[in-house]
Amino acid sequence: MRLTAIRTPSDVDHAARALFGEPLPATGGVSHVTAVWDDGAGKLYTLKIGEATPKSEADWFALHWSRARADAIVNTGKVLRSEPRLTYGFEGLGGRELDAAPMVAYRRERLGLMEPPRVLILTRGALSLDHPALSRDNRAIVWTTAEAAADMQGEARARGIEVIGSEAPTMRGAVAHLRGLGCRTISIEAGPSTSLSLYDPPTMVDELLLTVYEAPSLPDGVRGGAILSRTDLEARFGPLSFVRVQEPNGPWAFARVNTTP
Ligand SMILES: NC(=O)c1ccc[n+]([C@@H]2O[C@H](COP(=O)([O-])OP(=O)(O)OC[C@H]3O[C@@H](n4cnc5c(N)ncnc54)[C@H](OP(=O)(O)O)[C@@H]3O)[C@@H](O)[C@H]2O)c1
Repeated sequence: MRLTAIRTPSDVDHAARALFGEPLPATGGVSHVTAVWDDGAGKLYTLKIGEATPKSEADWFALHWSRARADAIVNTGKVLRSEPRLTYGFEGLGGRELDAAPMVAYRRERLGLMEPPRVLILTRGALSLDHPALSRDNRAIVWTTAEAAADMQGEARARGIEVIGSEAPTMRGAVAHLRGLGCRTISIEAGPSTSLSLYDPPTMVDELLLTVYEAPSLPDGVRGGAILSRTDLEARFGPLSFVRVQEPNGPWAFARVNTTP
């Protein structure tokens, strides 16, 4: 996939269908988007994001397509600290290799979504409200403890960020809150230690957008926590059908599965 060849909303639509197949619903429900490495025995380890992480143009597109389709994006304070330049506004939908304009036009014209996705960050409080992923424009919500919420409230209000404190904040509670606000596609970008709780029964995950790096090994320090194995995913979602893309650093595979046929 050449990102520079994506110039129009039709190009976006075509590229998404090429990776994720047909039919491709306009809404994804609670949609977990993740990039993992397969150890060869079907265990899937999250790729930690950093300098050494193997890159894939197709994966970059997949992540940004999931953002372009989302009513809300969920991440954690831990990820924001490890990616200090992460943004979610329209200007951040593209990124340097992928032109933002066709992604924004796709979002508006094809999906009728006129506002940027809303962003919710789960944290126990170690979060700088100056992080560029949090803004008035994306109607950011910080989902945190009651104590941290009390500490942040004044500063957050001045920045147009909503802070919601709970005695026992959880990923599941945060996602339920977004559902209650009417969000139809909630893209889960958080790491495995929090996103996996959404698979607990009763599952809250409606869709998985899965990228698998299929090279035989990973650079040091890139292997993160495991998600469900291939076998467990297939038991829940049915057979995984992959589209394979050869990148300069090796083979990558893409699949989309959901709980409703
Ligand atoms: N390849 C991928 O698709 C992908 C996707 C996401 C992340 N990652 C990588 O995965 C790693 C992070 O994943 P992870 O599983 O270690 O962490 P994670 O699930 O993203 O985040 C853990 C953080 O969530 C917050 N949290 C957890 N439980 C909470 C609770 N009950 N109440 C309030 N806040 C709570 C805390 O944030 P605070 O520390 O702010 O309190 C905690 O440190 C990073 O290396 C990242 O690069 C990769």
